[in-house]
Amino acid sequence: MNILEIRDLCKVYGEGETRVDALKDVSFDVEQGEFVAIVGPSGSGKSTLLHILGGVDVPTSGECRIAGTDIVKLDESKLAIFRRRNIGLIYQFYNLIPILNVEENMTLPILLDGKKPDRTLLNDLVEKLGLKDRLSHLPNQLSGGQQQRVSIGRALMNHPALLLADEPTGNLDSENSREIISLLRKFNKEDNQTVIIITHDEKIALTADRVITIEDGIIKRDSKTEGVMA
Ligand SMILES: Nc1ncnc2c1ncn2[C@@H]1O[C@H](COP(=O)(O)OP(=O)(O)OP(=O)(O)O)[C@@H](O)[C@H]1O
Ligand SMILES: [Mg+2]
Repeated sequence: MNILEIRDLCKVYGEGETRVDALKDVSFDVEQGEFVAIVGPSGSGKSTLLHILGGVDVPTSGECRIAGTDIVKLDESKLAIFRRRNIGLIYQFYNLIPILNVEENMTLPILLDGKKPDRTLLNDLVEKLGLKDRLSHLPNQLSGGQQQRVSIGRALMNHPALLLADEPTGNLDSENSREIISLLRKFNKEDNQTVIIITHDEKIALTADRVITIEDGIIKRDSKTEGVMA
């Protein structure tokens, strides 16, 4: 089953002299349970693409169907709800709320959605992420690797259709990077969680099932590496 279907996605920033065509007719599908790496030079459009998939930016034209819903057609408030319920986003700099502790950061999106957090899922994630004895800590009392694990937990609290990560290891040393990638892999394998990750690290890209290379807003290569390096 395709969890993601993108058709002729275009994104134009600015106009006239300052016009940038960040994405040019990008089309591809992702199947449920795939682990996809997006690579490409700086400025090639990777983050632009991920932000559109995550519903935090809108394309200039094209379709972006996630679990059957074309999110481009949703108005702002419906998109906000869809995003909260279906998308998990992870950034390079964690984006945790500094005055909330680990547990509060992880459950915030659920509370914002007017729901009660699933305690069983919370306990399970906390266990898997090795955060059990850090639940009452504030973000500034945690290491970078721990903060990124909290942001993974927060992203997974709503059983997202897509887990999207923009250079999640860009701020971490190699040991913490390996740990974060292996955690993402674990959720991918054990829960069939679809993961799309942007990375500059070739080693990380090679652990994915599939590598999509973007250059100058266009898909240059799309190759399956299934089973080879995983
Ligand atoms: N808000 C914006 N306004 C104008 N131009 C933008 C904006 N955001 C991105 N761009 C331009 O769009 C192009 C793609 O940017 P994007 O951030 O997607 O690149 P990237 O592949 O993620 O790069 P990096 O690897 O450096 O993070 C770049 O040329 C960038 O200058
Ligand atoms: Mg980027």
